[in-house]
Amino acid sequence: MPSSAPIGVFDSGVGGLSILIEIRKTLPNEDLFYIADTAHCPYGVKPVEEIRKRVLDVSEYLMGLGAKAIVVACNSACVAGLDHIREVHPEIPIVGVEPAVKPAHDKTRSGKIGVLATDMTLSGERFSLLVEKYGTGIEVYTQPAPGLVELVEAGKLDGAETEQILKEYLVPMLEKGVDTLVLGCTHYPFLKPVIARLAGPDVAILDTGAAVARQTAKVLSQKQLLNEAPGPGRTFFYTTENPQEVSKVIGLLWNDPVDTVLKAEV
Ligand code: DGL
Repeated sequence: MPSSAPIGVFDSGVGGLSILIEIRKTLPNEDLFYIADTAHCPYGVKPVEEIRKRVLDVSEYLMGLGAKAIVVACNSACVAGLDHIREVHPEIPIVGVEPAVKPAHDKTRSGKIGVLATDMTLSGERFSLLVEKYGTGIEVYTQPAPGLVELVEAGKLDGAETEQILKEYLVPMLEKGVDTLVLGCTHYPFLKPVIARLAGPDVAILDTGAAVARQTAKVLSQKQLLNEAPGPGRTFFYTTENPQEVSKVIGLLWNDPVDTVLKAEV
């Protein structure tokens, strides 16, 4: 596999862009292929077996495009299929994501943390193991948050509707006294300004984008797959749904202008 090959990144939709933004910053001369699996979004409310199959199919599509590594930029997809694709494709580095429970454990002063994520993430074994390992000595309050993914997909990052839904999810955890809030879904960092406004200045809000980008760089370096060619790397966007529609929201969330969004036939 040539080190000049692209890194493949995907999510159920545009949420993984919160990870892609950090990968772009950390690895400026890598080519990046991003797939928003919009036709199957949201993942978090679907049967695990169905999403496991999507994780495999989309990853193999990225490998078919020549990806030298895959970043599964979706907590729900990792719950459903990270172990499975690592088993099926041991030949390629695969980086996953998980809610920042360990950093929250290290940061909290009140000893109470809150985790906002999809049902699939919170009910998965990966999450129970994470809490078992890093939740000792603290109280971990969890809140499934249906509807938030759809808001981000629709580009509704602020406004009365978004604020109302977030309030419903955040207030019970805030009333318990959590001082550290984990955004356990890659869509949620795009709602951070509203979350921060509702939570107030004394609550720390953690996501995993920067850590995943560092891990991706580390894994590529270990495998001698870092692109040594002079940059800047290019970014290619794909969706499994209507590219024209999806390009609007990608344009809203991505920091730089987006030329084209392509159709991924997977
Ligand atoms: N961004 C995905 C995650 O991190 C969203 C899940 C979904 O599509 O339900 O979990």
